[in-house]
Amino acid sequence: MSRVAYVNGRYVRLADAAVSIQDRAFQFGDGVYEVCQVRGGALIDEARHLARLEASLAALRIAAPVGAAALRRIVREIVARNRVGDGLAYIQVSRGAAKRDHGFPSGAVAPSLVVSAKSIDPGVGEANASRGVSVVSVSDQRWAHPHIKTLQLLPNVLAKQAAREAGAFEAWFVDCSGFVTEGASTNAWIVAQNGALVTRQADQAILRGVTRSTLLDVAAREGFSFQERAFSLDEAYRAREAFFSSATTIAMPVVAIDGRTIGDGRPGPVTLALRRRFHDVAARS
Ligand code: PDD
Repeated sequence: MSRVAYVNGRYVRLADAAVSIQDRAFQFGDGVYEVCQVRGGALIDEARHLARLEASLAALRIAAPVGAAALRRIVREIVARNRVGDGLAYIQVSRGAAKRDHGFPSGAVAPSLVVSAKSIDPGVGEANASRGVSVVSVSDQRWAHPHIKTLQLLPNVLAKQAAREAGAFEAWFVDCSGFVTEGASTNAWIVAQNGALVTRQADQAILRGVTRSTLLDVAAREGFSFQERAFSLDEAYRAREAFFSSATTIAMPVVAIDGRTIGDGRPGPVTLALRRRFHDVAARS
């Protein structure tokens, strides 16, 4: 018997079950899920799982894809159609499919709902339980690797959305010591009071932007003095210039941070020179 999944209103063969490549769960991890135990065909702690699902959705401001009663019906239908006696039911909801953009989609986008179920041999768990199992310790690094260009972008999505709602273009992350790390989807730069161009060293706390690397090449060619070091938010407020960089923005002048005017409130000369020269230095292929 082939397994069946529920995908956005349809029951389909698991092998054919698919969501859009523009689904925000796929591109940003912008979604939530629940796994509910099935025992003798019954859902275990269903109400608690659905309450947590509702809380997770509310926390991310994702609309419920269907009402609670409908969701309970779908989960039961999936458990029944897959003839799961003992096993798991899986529920996943994402913000939906939309043109890629970190902030929430502006138009009405229907959240995606996927439900599946699988059987599990309870004997395996029982055998493990009768012997006992071992663990290893690892340092808790969830998620301490912004230098990897991972798809796990939910914190970036929420930061970009916070910027939008504050009427800003970008959000700059600040670490626990008050230093700026990088933008939600860009690298952060300032021209310090001594005139030096400053961007954080490409350590584990930031993504080593390709645009950042090329802008450093531009700076070297132009004879600008630069430092790769951490700068505080306070230093940024007092900077002569600020800007951010990425493949989508090149060097984008920043004229205000948290409502404070940077420099004279206009795009700065160093930023504009870097922006102008960027394509003379960047590799073309
Ligand atoms: N973002 N930092 C983060 C967190 C980024 O997501 C990006 C790129 C950068 C700049 O990297 P680069 O110069 O290689 O584009 C820094 C892309 C543009 C995006 O997610 O749309």
